[in-house]
Amino acid sequence: MDMQDIIITKRDGGKLSREQIEYFVKGCAAGAIPDYQTAALLMAIYLNKMDREETVALTDAMLRSGDRLDLSGIRGVKVDKHSTGGVGDTTTLIAGPLAAACGVPVAKMSGRGLGFSGGTIDKLASIPGFRTALTEEAFRDQVNRIGIAVTGQTGVIAPADKKIYALRDVTGTVENMSLIASSIMSKKLAAGSDAILLDVKCGGGAFMKDRQAARELGELMCGVGRAAGKRTVAAVTAMDQPLGLAVGNALEVKEAIRTLKGEGPKDLTDLCVFLSGWMVCLGGAAPNYEEGERMTKAALASGQGLAKLGELIEAQGGDPRVIDDPALFPISAARRKIRAQADGFVSEVRAEAVGVAARLAGAGRETKDDEIDPGAGVELARKVGDPVRKGEVLALLWAEDEEKAEAARPVLQDAFVLTEDQPAEPPLLLEVIGE
Ligand code: URA
Ligand code: CA
Repeated sequence: MDMQDIIITKRDGGKLSREQIEYFVKGCAAGAIPDYQTAALLMAIYLNKMDREETVALTDAMLRSGDRLDLSGIRGVKVDKHSTGGVGDTTTLIAGPLAAACGVPVAKMSGRGLGFSGGTIDKLASIPGFRTALTEEAFRDQVNRIGIAVTGQTGVIAPADKKIYALRDVTGTVENMSLIASSIMSKKLAAGSDAILLDVKCGGGAFMKDRQAARELGELMCGVGRAAGKRTVAAVTAMDQPLGLAVGNALEVKEAIRTLKGEGPKDLTDLCVFLSGWMVCLGGAAPNYEEGERMTKAALASGQGLAKLGELIEAQGGDPRVIDDPALFPISAARRKIRAQADGFVSEVRAEAVGVAARLAGAGRETKDDEIDPGAGVELARKVGDPVRKGEVLALLWAEDEEKAEAARPVLQDAFVLTEDQPAEPPLLLEVIGE
């Protein structure tokens, strides 16, 4: 086998065999293939695409390039939920405890985030005392004991993906269905759950800008999951404006707590009920989605979801008093208020711009070694459809220092678009790719 032949096959629009894909991925993980050859193959894949069979083979090879988490010591059907990445996506901290309260074990391994605001692990790290690194044994024991645990990545998960992603990032080859699907699914499958729920984000603040592309990605990822023998369901959800009101690490944990108290924003609450409803169904605690939704709503109304988040915080060393006292969270010192410059209605809150503002304020990372300020971020005071008068507050900004506040402020101001007529409320749940 020869890397040059593999590149030429794809360059000429041919189909790669399982053996060719394995040769490439193995060589890549071992550092045996020079970056220029990997980059050339990635561009050929980007231009000429892969079919479903090639995508399944690529996912499988990347998955086997590293460690796999063994969750067999955890009782019950483990369901993993994954979002393809949005702005202000706090759903894991809400849907996870809700599903756990309904009896589905939630064993969540989560990455640190690159980008706008941190990943779930960064959000949890804003809770005073919270431990985000659990050993595999402690992780397993905690799920068996209280039904939920969240840990940072243990072991070396899909190292081939890490290498390939870094090259995609600098060669203009990120936005390819097969490369995205195999990258996400190799890591999900290595994380060892029995079933997978995917939240495919669609819109200005997401990888997939239009609905057709998001649906195709969802269908492809479902196909890959099922080929690996896992029950897999995908939802396509809107990511044009941020989800909920908070974007930032401590801000989002506070928002999750409010939501579990029944006081959260409607879009975030609805999406979390939906996601937990599916987790309960896929985890076998309910015979169908409708029953999963009914159980989730009951766990939300009774406060059992909130109690489960409290148990999670306490079990991992966090201060459980944060549930009742938001003042215990860090909050950044440099503050700005973004005000409406005219009367009207909010017609757009551009998610990407809000995300960039949050990152500039200190809430996210540009490179993997950047430090996050847990108290930085944005809190929206208005969302799409809301009326506003000139001079009223559209959003609050908290930044690590004055310089960062000044960098983020105009970006956040420009995220808002106002019109004279009231726009219709945009739909959130676009479609479900069921079983
Ligand atoms: N997230 C990933 O992990 N990989 C991709 O390719 C895109 C999003
Ligand atoms: Ca949010």
